[in-house]
Amino acid sequence: MRLLIMGPPGAGKGTQASLIKENFNLAHISTGEMFREAMNEKTPLGIEAKSYMDKGELVPDSITVGLVKERISKEDCNNGFLLDGFPRTISQAKFLDEILKELDIAIDAVINIVVDKSAMVNRIVGRRICPKCGAGYHIDTIKPKKDGICDVCGTALIQRKDDNEETVLNRLSIYEEKTKPLLDYYQEQDLVIDIDGMGDIQDIFKNVANVLGAL
Ligand code: AP5
Ligand code: MG
Repeated sequence: MRLLIMGPPGAGKGTQASLIKENFNLAHISTGEMFREAMNEKTPLGIEAKSYMDKGELVPDSITVGLVKERISKEDCNNGFLLDGFPRTISQAKFLDEILKELDIAIDAVINIVVDKSAMVNRIVGRRICPKCGAGYHIDTIKPKKDGICDVCGTALIQRKDDNEETVLNRLSIYEEKTKPLLDYYQEQDLVIDIDGMGDIQDIFKNVANVLGAL
């Protein structure tokens, strides 16, 4: 299965993607995560990406598309993959079409997580992540057993630099302007499956699993 997962910042793409990855054995490709790893390692790519991400701006295509092409061609994607956070613009979608054509494969579905605007800012500002293993938490809804410490690996949790109210509003407006139009692009190909992203994480995943099981 080859899937895209879409939705505004804080919709729960990463949260659902982890569950889909585990249950359907797909490679999870998150461009945001790839950039954050490069930032942590302070590679030239990471340093450049950081200057855009910290402001909530999109990283230029000249950096992003090559990274995705290289990643999709890796062996662990042979069994299928789930793209999270890419494509984010029509030009990225056209580039993805070219890569898929070269590899003679196609996208099976676009999972679109639909959430109330009011939930997004709250989810993002309260998010905490483990810098070591990537596990995600929320200060109100998904608390670790020990305050500020990752349940999985015991590392101190951190807040993403772009998870503040001001940057979130910029990310949301970029989503509305540049990424939302992609839904029409994929709707024309009859690929979009809307999933209600409000409510319990496991209940949302059950709905996702049902639709994926029927593909
Ligand atoms: P990226 O990392 O993709 O961030 P995003 O799209 O803004 O989305 P988020 O990761 O913030 O939210 P999410 O939907 O994954 O939500 P999550 O599951 O974590 O991109 C970051 C930046 O990188 C971009 O701004 C850009 O600069 C750059 N970038 C990335 N890709 C790019 C590209 N293709 N082109 C150019 N630039 C690119 O959940 C959020 C919180 O809510 C968590 O705390 C979670 O625990 C909680 N939560 C989740 N589900 C629920 C629920 N059902 N109920 C209650 N809480 C919930
Ligand atoms: Mg995410």
